[in-house]
Amino acid sequence: MKIKSALLTLATALTVLSSSAYSKDLKIGLSIDDLRLERWQKDRDIFVKKAESMGAKVFVQSANGDDSAQISQIENMINKDIDVLVIIPHNGEVLSNVIAEAKKEGIKVLAYDRLINNAELDFYVSFDNEKVGELQAKSVVAVKPEGNYFLMGGSPVDNNAKLFRKGQMKVLDPLIKTGKIKVVGDQWVDSWLAEKALQIMENALTANKNNIDAVVASNDATAGGAIQALSAQGLSGKVAISGQDADLAAIKRIVSGSQTMTVYKPITKLADKAAQIAVQLGKNEKVESNAELNNGLKNVPAYLLDPIAVDKSNLDETIIQDGFHTKESIYQ
Ligand code: GAL
Repeated sequence: MKIKSALLTLATALTVLSSSAYSKDLKIGLSIDDLRLERWQKDRDIFVKKAESMGAKVFVQSANGDDSAQISQIENMINKDIDVLVIIPHNGEVLSNVIAEAKKEGIKVLAYDRLINNAELDFYVSFDNEKVGELQAKSVVAVKPEGNYFLMGGSPVDNNAKLFRKGQMKVLDPLIKTGKIKVVGDQWVDSWLAEKALQIMENALTANKNNIDAVVASNDATAGGAIQALSAQGLSGKVAISGQDADLAAIKRIVSGSQTMTVYKPITKLADKAAQIAVQLGKNEKVESNAELNNGLKNVPAYLLDPIAVDKSNLDETIIQDGFHTKESIYQ
């Protein structure tokens, strides 16, 4: 009898101990590729707010497109004794070693928006990126069902850029086969930078004597650069061109007619979800998944959200209604 009650007391003590360990402040490291692009500033703000509202502390660093800076920032976070590492990778191919270091320290690792290849990830949260590519190509084809197409891919080291292209080709391939669409050029834009896209588009126009009917651009930053080159040749508004992110500048271009569409990804949903998952991982709780992606090392459980195609016709019921941008900021 005595032994039994002693055991019970011990069990109670252990429960109290372990739950007090769980209620200690969770520390999350958020490693961001590049805050120079509008969308990532939103991701950061919403993620931090949500995670803090759940009692976590968040350390944020941005590598501004530099692989080795991102690696040393992550090492720094590991040394700060974080519980969970949330990474928006610049280069999805170079983080295996630093993630292995984190795992050795018992840190949970969540890939945010972009998958990290050959790494021991615990979870991946993003949008359905192949679908993003499909939406882009479909909208462009709806405006230019035939003609000369230029493909402007994203950063060659961003796994999403490859998924966008895969989705785009699902739509384009059959039309290429029947000869309706001819691909007259295909380039990838380092770090998704607008100034690089501008140069690429200038060269493509020269090489094709301005004979380009449509540009399948993979995001708004690169579409912006391409549209600058098109404008200089008097082609803006005449060439169909896609985008992604619902950046304010892109929405204004859609209103003025120089950009055909963008893909709106409700960042609040992604960032809130990511913060929730990070806290669950930190507390060793079960995380709900709706997909699984192979990253070369393992099948990573994932949660993917739905992207939405936006053009002039549905700005009101999407971006404006969600408060992503205000009506005044768009039309002023
Ligand atoms: C992608 C991301 C896009 C876009 C791009 C440039 O990985 O999914 O939304 O912003 O990076 O940062």
